[in-house]
Amino acid sequence: MTVVESCAERLIELLSVPGSKSFAISGGSSPKPLFALLARSAVDWREVRLYWVDERCVPADDDQSNYRMAREHLIEPADIPASNVHRVQTELPPEQAAEAYARQLPDRLDVIHLGMGSDAHTASLFPGDRLIEDRTRRTAATYVEKFKQWRVTLCPRVILEAGNVVVFAPGGDKADALQHVRHGEIDPLRYPAQIARLRDRVDWFTG
Ligand code: 6PG
Repeated sequence: MTVVESCAERLIELLSVPGSKSFAISGGSSPKPLFALLARSAVDWREVRLYWVDERCVPADDDQSNYRMAREHLIEPADIPASNVHRVQTELPPEQAAEAYARQLPDRLDVIHLGMGSDAHTASLFPGDRLIEDRTRRTAATYVEKFKQWRVTLCPRVILEAGNVVVFAPGGDKADALQHVRHGEIDPLRYPAQIARLRDRVDWFTG
């Protein structure tokens, strides 16, 4: 079984428990084959309320939009009801979008899919971002210098409080960061994806 198939299997298991559940997804490009497997699965999407781990502050139809990527690779193929889709309203200024998104979030997310960049960032929490040390805020707008781009992101508290966290970080370019993230000394400010290691349980799908 490939790493994407294994990750999909775990997410399908988590999303197939009876009743309504909330599911926050990450963006980028790695999730595309994962979303394709989820879309073809037997998950009853009428019971899944969809959220985002982070979003670029661009129009919803922009090719950099995480919402657009999910719409193309998951929402439309899986025919997820529009009423279940809770995107970040990037038509608002970043701070207002973050505040509005916090009001949409449930008290606790049931399932979170995290990605990880080759610099060990997760969500839109990049190395050195003081939000990494924040345990109060649930969402925030943050300017990512590396990309000269505003983002809205979940904050660590939401990741730590979630019912289940699955990290999907395939690809050779992440191998060095993964070594530090999974087995190195805990230093989330330097390796933000280590936030997941602060939980009692997290499922890692890497390699
Ligand atoms: C984003 C993502 C981000 C992503 C990493 C990894 O907005 O870019 O949410 O946190 O998970 O950048 O992206 P890839 O999986 O495409 O390498």
